[in-house]
Amino acid sequence: MAEYRPGLEGVPATRSNISFVDGQAGILEYRGIPIEELAAHSTFLETAYLLIFGKLPTQSELDNFDQAVRSHRRVKYRIRDMIKSFPDSGHPMDALQTCVASLGMFYPVQEADPDYVFVTVTRLLAKLPTMVAMFHQMRQGNDPIPPDDSLDHAANFLYMLSGKKPDPWLARVFDTCLILHAEHTVNASTFALLVSASTLASPYSSLATAVGTLSGLLHGGANQEVMKLLRQIGSVENVRPFIEEKLARKERIMGMGHRVYKVKDPRAIILQKLAEELFERHGHDKYYDIALEVERVCAELLGPKGIYPNVDFYSGLVYAKLGIPEDLFTPVFAIARVAGWLAHWREQLADNRLFRPTQVYTGKRQQRYIPISERS
Ligand code: COA
Repeated sequence: MAEYRPGLEGVPATRSNISFVDGQAGILEYRGIPIEELAAHSTFLETAYLLIFGKLPTQSELDNFDQAVRSHRRVKYRIRDMIKSFPDSGHPMDALQTCVASLGMFYPVQEADPDYVFVTVTRLLAKLPTMVAMFHQMRQGNDPIPPDDSLDHAANFLYMLSGKKPDPWLARVFDTCLILHAEHTVNASTFALLVSASTLASPYSSLATAVGTLSGLLHGGANQEVMKLLRQIGSVENVRPFIEEKLARKERIMGMGHRVYKVKDPRAIILQKLAEELFERHGHDKYYDIALEVERVCAELLGPKGIYPNVDFYSGLVYAKLGIPEDLFTPVFAIARVAGWLAHWREQLADNRLFRPTQVYTGKRQQRYIPISERS
């Protein structure tokens, strides 16, 4: 019998040519292009196209794709009414999962031909940001801010959140964050999506599965927890005693450690540089100093186990500085990861086989049925 590996660690679940990770060398590539190059030169929508369609678009392909995404930004009034009935205190990830699942009732599933794939991916890329911003406005009792078609993907999301057109440099910072979060091989949410897609569930249902899986604290939910941690620590002097106590209680330090990376996550390196530049240009932030000290102390205490900052460690600091509320950090992750999920959805359908793993049975066998009157 095959060896049981808890958490399927190291077990290949699929063949994929979408992204590549080397956890020892700290390398991440999308379709063979290093993440550092994409962060420096690409845009989120261009990267999404690369991930989903397997090549960098020509100018006219990119214009067409961008235009299609812009044209799908608005959501049905029934979705708006549904969001209005959500509890204000509900987590935005739960709101997003519900909204994504509901799309399946509006858009019929078809044969996955190129036209259907194109309309589905542009629709989903476009609508997730609108639905996140809409929930955020409506939970505060405001009317949603309609998308502005003159703004690009990143700027439009920040605009729908705040009602103000963002500074172009800040919108570019946000767009880079979306690139960094767009794809990461067969992580938990992508695996969940693959399982769902393999049953031929609708793309909306498959995406909703992925959104739900991303929400967990050990996955996308960690970015929100990092800011909580930095606030609890409160000062640079308090970092060492706080971390030592936490580790003595066998608790985890959020934003640290990764199943694959045993060195500092390359995305954390880029995000840290972005955070540094952001604080230089737009005012210092004491939480950045606390984060640097947490990284130093953790390198000493957890580094020998191969535990270093992951993508979530610095992203929250950047999002907070961009004025994004803490409980939207994980939905923002989803707005980016939808690109990778859709690339995997397409790849799975191109060579589909139903996922149906096996188990190591550890229970009893051949038991007698005991009538209720004889049970003790
Ligand atoms: N803080 C403290 N200890 C940690 C840790 C962390 N963030 N991450 C892992 N460890 C320790 C575990 O306690 C365990 O120690 P032990 O061997 O002494 O029992 C060891 O490292 C291995 O942990 P394990 O849970 O088996 O590793 P994993 O590969 O399943 O962990 C994560 C991957 C991401 C789940 C884990 O690192 C984690 O919980 N990180 C915090 C949450 C987070 O930031 N998630 C976002 C990931 S992008």
